Amino acid sequence: MENSRGSFGSKLGVILATAGSAVGLGNIWRFPYMTGQNGGAAFILIYLVCIFMLGIPGMVAEFIIGRHSAANAARSYKNLSNGKPWGVIGYMGVFTSMIILGFYAVVAGWCLQYLYASIMAEVQGDANFVKEYFASFSSDAVRPTLWTIAFILLTHVVVVKGVRNGIERASKILMPLLFVLLVVLVVASCSLQGAWKGVEFLLKPDFSKVDPNVMIEALGQAFFSLSLGTACLCTYASYFSRQTNLLKTATQIAFLDTLIAILAGLMIFPAAFSVGVQPDSGPSLIFITLPNVFNEAFASMPVVGYVISVLFYALLVLAALTSTISMHEIGTAFFYEEMHISRRGGAWIETVACCVIGVFCALSCGAVPELTFFGKSFLNCCDNFTAQWLMPMASFFTCIFVGWYIPKKVVHDEFTNWSTLRGTFFGVYLFMVRFVCPLCILIIFLHQLGVL
Ligand code: PHE
Repeated sequence: MENSRGSFGSKLGVILATAGSAVGLGNIWRFPYMTGQNGGAAFILIYLVCIFMLGIPGMVAEFIIGRHSAANAARSYKNLSNGKPWGVIGYMGVFTSMIILGFYAVVAGWCLQYLYASIMAEVQGDANFVKEYFASFSSDAVRPTLWTIAFILLTHVVVVKGVRNGIERASKILMPLLFVLLVVLVVASCSLQGAWKGVEFLLKPDFSKVDPNVMIEALGQAFFSLSLGTACLCTYASYFSRQTNLLKTATQIAFLDTLIAILAGLMIFPAAFSVGVQPDSGPSLIFITLPNVFNEAFASMPVVGYVISVLFYALLVLAALTSTISMHEIGTAFFYEEMHISRRGGAWIETVACCVIGVFCALSCGAVPELTFFGKSFLNCCDNFTAQWLMPMASFFTCIFVGWYIPKKVVHDEFTNWSTLRGTFFGVYLFMVRFVCPLCILIIFLHQLGVL
């Protein structure tokens, strides 16, 4: 890895590693809390439209740029720019992913704490106790900060080991395991008393709750969940082989990602309604709901509950890790290739920068109340700013770049399926990236700014 670019070893490895980037806390932590805050089923419907109409074409656009150039994000855009400043989108991606990694590691650190606590059987009590436990832990100055740094260092170690050994091997084993455990927990959660209300909340849309803000939140969630607009997909696609079918890969990943998010919703809301946790509790939602599932659904078989809770947090940590690896890789590949330093050195620059952001985010959740801006913690500000502004903006420009600027032949060649030599849906795709995607994102932006 020091001298040559890595590449993924197998077709399945590509899909799983890219899906590993997409599937993470975005699905299991952010999706349920966003759904809860934005009224449930109606939000999910808009989210699905965003994934299908904007997410998949946007993913393919990043794949095209990355695979064509086989370089880090900034160089990939620059290679196709003919001296024009499109490379800025790549730089923006490096910056965006750094901020995301900073706050994401805080939540991943919370998961580490919960893994530790479930091993020690610490979070056992009624719903009130569980709520208090989170409040006192997250507002502590020391533990969340240390877990955050620990998580970033863990990511650093995997990234330094290289693409094939670290990222691919980890993804292959962990993703399927996480899926199985989620299904078990959905069944457990739905079997709780009064759980049906939660299922209804997820499936019965109430459109009276939809306003422009719900739309931008759904858009942001779709981009965040697919890792779109951070140049992450572009960086991963630079390791794809010619045989990878880009449209098929994007569709498969979007499907898997959405399936896991919906499963996470089905795991959280029935339990939340059953034990009386407010669905709009915000970022703490899964942490004040899940322990109740482990305690209550398995009350008659505490050992099973114990094992499942430990396993679940372990897998959650690992799902977060496959995502943080991808965020870290964007910066590492960039510093290594663009600044002509070693890969190890590049990784350290990224790690230190993310730790600084992460520490501020961790402290903003209660320990240092001054770190609140516009009524939101610094962590929430970073989260909103990246998901609702930076990511859609990068994707907007990427669609314009692919749709209008780079030679149509390049787009067509990359879009073509190399085993059948056919570019089915190319016309539809071009129409989407040229008109539909940029226009939709623009309209949602203008709404958000109050212009429309
Ligand atoms: N998509 C990841 C998740 O759902 C988060 C992520 C965002 C990963 C941006 C990489 C880049 O958890």
